Amino acid sequence: MLDTKMFPKDFQWGSATSSYQIEGAAAEDGKGESTWDRFAHTPGKVRDKSTGDVACDHYHRYKDDVALMKNIGLKAYRFSVAWPRVVPKGTGAVNQAGIDFYSRLVDELLKAGIQPFPTLYHWDLPQILEDKGGWTNRDTSKAFADYSFEVAKRLGDRVGHWMTHNEPWCTAFLGYHMGQHAPGIKDLSMALQAAHECLVSHGLAVKAIRSASPGAQVGIAPNLYPSYPATDSPADKKAAQKLDGYYNRWFLDPLAGKGYPQDMLDYYGKACPKVAPGDMELMAQPIDFLGINYYSRGLVADDPASTWVPNVKFIETPSHEYTAFHWEVFPVGLYDILMQVHKNYGFKALYITENGAAFEDKLDEKGQVNDDRRQAFIEAHFEQAGRAIRDGVPLKGYFVWSLMDNFEWSMGYTLRFGMVYVDYATQKRTLKKSALWYREMLSKV
Ligand code: FCB
Repeated sequence: MLDTKMFPKDFQWGSATSSYQIEGAAAEDGKGESTWDRFAHTPGKVRDKSTGDVACDHYHRYKDDVALMKNIGLKAYRFSVAWPRVVPKGTGAVNQAGIDFYSRLVDELLKAGIQPFPTLYHWDLPQILEDKGGWTNRDTSKAFADYSFEVAKRLGDRVGHWMTHNEPWCTAFLGYHMGQHAPGIKDLSMALQAAHECLVSHGLAVKAIRSASPGAQVGIAPNLYPSYPATDSPADKKAAQKLDGYYNRWFLDPLAGKGYPQDMLDYYGKACPKVAPGDMELMAQPIDFLGINYYSRGLVADDPASTWVPNVKFIETPSHEYTAFHWEVFPVGLYDILMQVHKNYGFKALYITENGAAFEDKLDEKGQVNDDRRQAFIEAHFEQAGRAIRDGVPLKGYFVWSLMDNFEWSMGYTLRFGMVYVDYATQKRTLKKSALWYREMLSKV
């Protein structure tokens, strides 16, 4: 069993979900259409042709789901607020029924002794804003700040920790460059403009949240990949540096007030975003914490022929374990990225805002799910987090992705990431072995 003594007493042990992936109720109580509603309903975009229309039906079952969290013993829960549920037209009037849902959720969590950690944007943009350019349009950033203000004003009396964006790299690059996520565009300069707007809107939202709820702790949750060269050759070392620039430094440097990294500005050349006066200052609003979503590492070699920006090639390690998503299991990478971020930026506090794995889980004839591999995965990553704390990293909490199986974006329901198994036909939830293990561990901290 993991030695939990490495973690402080007030450590926020939690798990995470997001609105589109679990809520369902896609068009209920005045909710507006989101880019993911539109994208998932577009033929050919989601592997199993599924949508988040119903998902885990969490919108109707949130009380049972909070009871599950309490049963596991979670101390904190990271969820996201669906912008089109709260402001259906993207700007303007707040939909009372929409905000009421989150207000009830927060009350239910607090009643169960669980700290709410909402994220204001986890990819479900009001479609009406996408129609006007989405994250490539400055108006979207302004609208995001207004929406954030309205949510913080109504929940700030009970919510102490906020995240602005989830994984701006995914919003920008999967959404506007690789086209695998909504809105499905394939244009590098639009992606870089979208990344820029995400960071500007983050800064605007930090200010808006603080003005609506003085004393709020505000952060952001980028996805980070520690990068390693496949060999000691200068070319491979440069490839690893480029991957680090692409995923990590392009976002962290401006957040920390260092501006965009010069090597990446040179690399992107003409595709670089348009920067208005004051943008870099906005992005660098001091944050109270940085969230890190960590899943795997990047082991890369130089590959000038690669058509994938940043022109590097991922190298597999056959002796290592891979998840059902074909992501390499690499727990030490969590330690490395924590140390790297701490050393290079010195943010006041860090959280692991997502970490987890998909495996081929089966409900057996006894009604159990023996996800030993997930349990081992989580335990190994907790250990690395503990090591980082021992070595001076101000890590304050850890959110396992995910509380329950859910709609995994372009992979639909083909991948199970949950500690709780969801039978989508009946919506029955079953605690997997990993959840029982987590519960046992939490009973001792
Ligand atoms: C992250 C997303 C999250 C989930 C996990 C598996 O990139 O933030 O919604 O899809 O990956």
